[in-house]
Amino acid sequence: MSSTSPGESRGREGAPFRVGLLGRGTVGGAFYDLLGERAEAIAAATGRRPEISGVLRRDEGDFDEILAGSDLIVEVMGGIDPTDDYVLRALEAGRHVVTANKQLLSQHGERLYAAAAAADVQLGFEAAVAGVVPAIRVIRESLAAAHIERVHGIVNGTTNFILTAMARTGAGYDEALAEAQRLGFAEADPTEDVTGKDAAAKMAILARLAFGAAVSLDDVPYEGIEHVTADDIAYARELGLSLKLIGSAERIDGGIAVRVYPAFLYGGHPLASVSGSFNAVTVESPAITEITLSGPGAGGSQTASAVLGDVVSAITPPAGQLPPAIDLPVVPDVASAFYLHVEVADQPGVLAQVAEILGLQGVSIKSVVQRGIGDDARLVMVMHPVLESRFRAAVDMIERLDYVRARPRAIHVIDEVFE
Ligand SMILES: NC(=O)c1ccc[n+]([C@@H]2O[C@H](COP(=O)([O-])OP(=O)(O)OC[C@H]3O[C@@H](n4cnc5c(N)ncnc54)[C@H](OP(=O)(O)O)[C@@H]3O)[C@@H](O)[C@H]2O)c1
Repeated sequence: MSSTSPGESRGREGAPFRVGLLGRGTVGGAFYDLLGERAEAIAAATGRRPEISGVLRRDEGDFDEILAGSDLIVEVMGGIDPTDDYVLRALEAGRHVVTANKQLLSQHGERLYAAAAAADVQLGFEAAVAGVVPAIRVIRESLAAAHIERVHGIVNGTTNFILTAMARTGAGYDEALAEAQRLGFAEADPTEDVTGKDAAAKMAILARLAFGAAVSLDDVPYEGIEHVTADDIAYARELGLSLKLIGSAERIDGGIAVRVYPAFLYGGHPLASVSGSFNAVTVESPAITEITLSGPGAGGSQTASAVLGDVVSAITPPAGQLPPAIDLPVVPDVASAFYLHVEVADQPGVLAQVAEILGLQGVSIKSVVQRGIGDDARLVMVMHPVLESRFRAAVDMIERLDYVRARPRAIHVIDEVFE
């Protein structure tokens, strides 16, 4: 292998563009095949024919040798260690890097963005968020001049598949998860997906791009879908609501709030109709009103296609570096509407007492459904927006009432109607 740097080989118009591949699993394997299929077309469009210069797996290849012989490193190994070290060394050595690794970027992104800027090379990560949906490119390039107020997304296909299955079939969470695993939409260990951690990492990356502020995974509170019941989904449907795991990043009170939580949406919301393993990202800005991008959220060939798109961008002239992060405070407590499900003994005055506690905390009820079942009753309510801390305080007080049978279940409601 030769050891020319991209600067030297960039000058060699028509010379092959050498791609070192770290990881040849689901995404890396599909990328390897796709690059072979598309190499001639890319050569025709860019003047450089991409070729794989080396592959690293656990028992194949040597990182230093691959680095020396590559113009660009594709990182699809996953994980943080030793990936972080490899990516940083590649950037410092003046190599472009393309990665699909949201955990790496959401935890060490600032250091890597700075290293890419210092070396004047590209760090592409379209595949790290929402699979093949070009959310990164649209926010970075098409909306570069827009003042983005909010990004809302369904950025985890596994949880959207599970919630869609529960809504369609009435299945419980465990049953729907088992079905997702059987069909390959959930991993054997689904923890990162179902707890919301995967979506939180992606929202940290989107927030960094949309607002220019350094947001890491630690700044993103996340709540998953493990406690959602078939009941919640069925009752909410009576109120015209459907449940999604929502990633939200918004400007608020002079700062930004980035969060992941299950939320009910009214039927007209652009994310309400996104079903199965699809992802979608809605970007809102006064200049553009709102746009929604949607498509497959994962999968080897889909993700590989997003990775190859970034490789082509590196061959053609760069679109510019990510500027240094600006300071914006992260707002801890945000107003939201909520759905509340309370199981109580069926006695007179119970609803009035629950309503009184909510009132004491400044929480007002928008709609309510009450059902009796034997000696018990269920109160299902949707609240008007209120600071989350006030609402949670009210729920804690309600839970302590003698006639409440189980911990009340609370879920965010996105209280907007899109015409
Ligand atoms: N799968 C998807 O649909 C999808 C979608 C979007 C983003 N991503 C991201 O893409 C990345 C790769 O995911 P994947 O599903 O393709 O993973 P995968 O199937 O587990 O493949 C990982 C590859 O990396 C290699 N590898 C892992 N640790 C290594 C180490 N320490 N040294 C050398 N090689 C190592 C593995 O080697 P062996 O072959 O020797 O095991 C394997 O070839 C992850 O960051 C993931 O989050 C995946």
